This record gives sequence, structure tokens and C-alpha cells, in this order.
Amino acid sequence: MNATATPATPNEKDRVVIFDTTLRDGEQSPGASMTLEEKLNVAELLDTMGVDIIEAGFPIASNGDFEAVCEIAKVTKNAVVAGLARAIPGDIDRAGDAVRHARRGRIHTFVSTSPIHLQFQMNKTEEQVLEIIRTTVARARNLIDDVEWSAMDATRTPIDYLCRCVEAAIRAGATTINLPDTVGYAVPEEYRAMFEQVRARVPDADKAIFSVHCHDDLGLAVANSLAGVAGGARQVECTINGLGERAGNAALEEVVMAMRTRSDVLPFACNVDPVHLTRASKLVAAVSSFDVQYNKAIVGKNAFAHESGIHQDGMLKNASTYEIMRPEDVGVKATSLVMGKHSGRHAFKDKLAELGYVIGDNAFEEAFRRFKDLADRKKHVYDEDIEALVSDEMATGGEAIRMLSLTVIAGTGGPAKAIVTLDVRGQHVTREETGDGPVDATFKAIKAIVPHEAVLRLYQVSAVTEGTDAQAEVSVRLEEGGRTVTGKAADTDTIAASARAYVSAINKLANGVAFGRGEAMAAV
Ligand code: KIV
Ligand code: ZN
Repeated sequence: MNATATPATPNEKDRVVIFDTTLRDGEQSPGASMTLEEKLNVAELLDTMGVDIIEAGFPIASNGDFEAVCEIAKVTKNAVVAGLARAIPGDIDRAGDAVRHARRGRIHTFVSTSPIHLQFQMNKTEEQVLEIIRTTVARARNLIDDVEWSAMDATRTPIDYLCRCVEAAIRAGATTINLPDTVGYAVPEEYRAMFEQVRARVPDADKAIFSVHCHDDLGLAVANSLAGVAGGARQVECTINGLGERAGNAALEEVVMAMRTRSDVLPFACNVDPVHLTRASKLVAAVSSFDVQYNKAIVGKNAFAHESGIHQDGMLKNASTYEIMRPEDVGVKATSLVMGKHSGRHAFKDKLAELGYVIGDNAFEEAFRRFKDLADRKKHVYDEDIEALVSDEMATGGEAIRMLSLTVIAGTGGPAKAIVTLDVRGQHVTREETGDGPVDATFKAIKAIVPHEAVLRLYQVSAVTEGTDAQAEVSVRLEEGGRTVTGKAADTDTIAASARAYVSAINKLANGVAFGRGEAMAAV
């Protein structure tokens, strides 16, 4: 085996289409909602890295989702832009309206096919669902040439009925057939067998591309996806960092690197350039506020760290002793000491470009001001510090409520006291509160200025780099009326970062970026 294998160049029939659903299935996970600008940033990177299809959202879910799909459709240069629709005429028309702006658009419509869903969720017979498939797929095909049909809960659907559904969808004009493991229940052998059987039994199966879509409830999403490809599927639906409902979807970076690294047994290739994977992971982690676990395959902080003596010894002799992929292949750069307080605008701009950030003039000036401030307080400023600072700036720019100042008095002697001043739509408001520790007092003071009913669901602190002067990155997740949002901020002062993360979450609630998807989402 070649330790750092380059991908084989298989025939077109062995090309696997990468369908990214970070902005739809990924964004559906509670707390992962993104703003329009964040979605556009993610879509642009997905397009640059060679993703074939970007599922940009669920247009009927809300006006915000509709607008996001329209805008992504307008700016995407290469990828097909897909919009999701239930098997309901209104959904399909709305998805068609959103993707018609795209150079290449797709309507992705789905309906449940398993007995358990038919009985308890839909209250429909098998024949009724077959009729729904015929009419809705045909309706979508009247709007656009590229139509994907998904059999929701396919892996718990009897194979005979599943074959009838797939046949009906292909006859009605579906060009892609997706057989999802919606509840993450399948094991690789049976998932592969399902594709082999359906493709062998359904007349005209070769007229459509078959697709895998796996959830990770049993930790098998990537293994199942690859098994489905071995069974004849040629589209993989996946998300950056495996973001998605419950335990998430198959991770795009893992699927891509497994095919590339083990092309000896997985002789498939895709268009994604893996050098963008690390950046995509960081961007999605920042905008979704879902941190990547340290030991996550491919993009985790420790994915290429060799700690034990015996491993380090082998690595020094020859990297291939313990390394099956090169970190640089997935865009990992050696951590470098960047700049200090004497670095100027030019050096800072160059560093941002090297890290892959392009930000507007105003955001640049603010980021530079904060960099200088950080360099005054922190001895060494690393790439990770700059990344935290810029994602913080991108997340908070233009917010209606901003933190102006914070004073905290805390210690072992009694309750902590916090004095907070916020700029609330141009008005400066100050409140003083006491609490059970400095964070509690600070949050109470903020709540006194901006009263709300949101419940704190998560408060998490992690260090951006090492050392006692490291920046603390704080995530605050709030839930209000079924909507969940996450705010993030970084600062060398943990309480200041906490306050800004809390204010950022409140801004998101006020902006309605977590769309109350109500009935529409309940069906997905
Ligand atoms: O998991 C699932 O079945 C889905 C469908 C909407 C494709 O996300
Ligand atoms: Zn899904």
C-alpha cells in the first residue's frame, strides 16, 4: 500500500458526485442556524473546492431559507444548486422558484416509504404514496430537468415496495434516486445489498444516478456511504464536519479522504480538492458554532498529532510509518508564530490572505484594531488567534446590540458583581447585577438591559492556543420558543468573551436567524 496514495483516475462511471447538504441537513441541527452571509461564505467555499451539488436549503421552510437558496443560486459558479421540497405541490413550486436563479438548478423532493412512517406519520396507504410520487416528481420535472427523488427511511422499507417506488419515480422523470438511511439504522452489508437489488430489479434503473444519504446514529454513516457506492451508487450526500440532524450526516472530508487514500480498494474518484478540507471544517465550525472534536478524523486538532514516543520515533525516521495521509494534503499548515504588536496593516492583510480570509474594508479595519489590542495583551499571536479573531469579527459585524464595557468584581468573599454597558441600537445602557460567580452576574446584567425569555442551553469555554494568556473561545446557546441559536466570541479575558458570546446569541435571536420552521421542518 502506498502511504500517501494519490487518487486513481477511474472511468467516468467510477466518478462519485459529491452532494453537500451542510446548508440544509447540517443547518437543521438545533443551534447550527447560519445567517445569509455565513451561508454565502460556506457555499462559495464548497463551490471553490469542487463540490458537485450544493443543497442550499429548504425554500418552503421560511422566507430566510428561500432567500438563502435564491442568493446562493445566483452566485454559485460551478456547482448545481439544489432546493429541498416535500412531496407537496406548494413546496415543489417554491423550490423551483428558488433554484431557477441558478446556472444549474435541482429540485430535491422526498416522501417517506417505510411502513412505520406511512402508518404513524403520513396515515397513507402504499398505493396512495405511489400516486404522490408520480404526481410530485412529474410536477418537479415540469419545472426543471434535474430532479432528485428521495425515499425517506428507505432502509426500513421492504425491498419489493421500495423497488415499486423507485420505478414510479424514474418513470415520472427523476434523474437521481436517493435511498437514505434516515434514522442511521443500516449496517454496511445491507446498505450495499439494497442498492444492488434495487438497481438489478427496477426497469430503467440505469437512467438515474443512485445516491447515498446516511445518518450517523450508530457511527456508521461513512462506512455505509462507501458501501452504497460499492453497491452502485454514484452520488454521496454528506456534510462538512458531519454536521446534521441528531448524530449528524456522513462527513464529507472522511468520504473524500477514504476514497483517495484507499483507492486500491475503493476505486472511485471525485472532484473535491482535499486541500480545502481544513479550511472548510474551520469555516463551518465557526459559522455553525459546533466545535470539531479534537480526535475527529481528517480535521480534528489531533488528527495528525503523534504524541507517543514510539510513534514520534517512527515519524522522524519516515513519516509513512504512522501517517497514511499527509497533513498538507488536507490543507493543514504548520502552526506559525505570526506577528507581534509591531506588525503593520500590510503584514496583517497578507496573513489573512494566507489563512484564506477575504474581508471588506470596514471589517478589516476593525479586525486590525482588535489584532493590535490582542498583540498588546498577548505575548505570542498565532494563526489560531487570528482565525478566532476574524471569525468573531465576521459573526458580530453589524449587530444591533454591542458590548461597550464590562467591569467585574469577583472573589471568594461573596457574590460577584458585574457592571455592563451595552450599545442597544445606538443607545448606551448600563446595568449592575450580582450573581453566583462573574459569568452569572454578567449574564444577569445583560439580561436586565435586554430582557428576554430565552433559556441558556449551553455555555462552553475552550482555549484557542496554549498558555495562561491564551484566548478563551466561548459558545453560548440559547433557546426561545422552539428556536435555538449559538453565539461565539474569543478574548484573552474569559468573562469578556462570555459576555460577547451571550450578546451575539441575543442578536441572532433578535434577527430571527434560527427560523422557527414549524410544521415544514417537523416533516423532515
Ligand atoms: O435523512 C433524510 O432522509 C433526509 C431526506 C430529506 C433526504 O434528509
Ligand atoms: Zn438527512
